Amino acid sequence: MGSPMTPERRQRYLDAMGIQRWVPRGGAAGSTVVPVDPPEPVASPVPAGALGDLVGDVAHLDWDALAARVAACNACEELAAKRTRTVFGVGDRQADWLFIGEAPGAEEDRQGEPFVGRAGQLLDSMLFALGLKRGQGVYIANILKCRPPGNRDPKPEEARACRAYLDRQIDLIQPRIIVALGRIAAQNLLGTDEPLGRLRGKPLNYRDIPLVITYHPAYLLRQPADKRKAWDDLCLARRVMGV
Ligand code: URA
Repeated sequence: MGSPMTPERRQRYLDAMGIQRWVPRGGAAGSTVVPVDPPEPVASPVPAGALGDLVGDVAHLDWDALAARVAACNACEELAAKRTRTVFGVGDRQADWLFIGEAPGAEEDRQGEPFVGRAGQLLDSMLFALGLKRGQGVYIANILKCRPPGNRDPKPEEARACRAYLDRQIDLIQPRIIVALGRIAAQNLLGTDEPLGRLRGKPLNYRDIPLVITYHPAYLLRQPADKRKAWDDLCLARRVMGV
């Protein structure tokens, strides 16, 4: 982390993300850190505590107690009945970078770890593009800790119920930046239904932590042309971090 972004490194990252050709804006690709505008308010985030009622008070729990509470959670009847296991989150519990996706898919439900399928491979490439590695300075979590059956979107009440767990993880980690992966993560964190295209591209914040929104890796697998915009988002995240 923190090493200069040489054109060679940049090209390696772009190759890893599957972005074929990159034309630098305004001349040579450099390592200059461009200051970012202060975060813009979006909608008011949901007040802490207001949503956690379904899962009880978890704000005082340590990691082990929190993980145990999640593993035994029955707040959402359908999810609890149909899951193989909960997917708590993975990585460095003192990470600077927190990535938040939507919800576990079938493979994550089997293995109990977020982003282990094809989308996970692309996420790993995105991490590589940031000079990061899963588990080292990085924590990965989801809006929901259980797989929605049939990979349907999380229901608002499910996301509400699960938020207390995520918020407690954020409090324990104290990341320096949050990267929201995709519309569901972004809209839930921000308490808005604005489309992703309107939310990405600018620094925001969640509970006073800088927040950058980008595309979900599964979306990028379907729409590789948007990887370039995702790359811009990752560059914004680097600038927000001052690297
Ligand atoms: N998609 C997500 O949003 N999260 C995962 O853990 C896997 C796929």
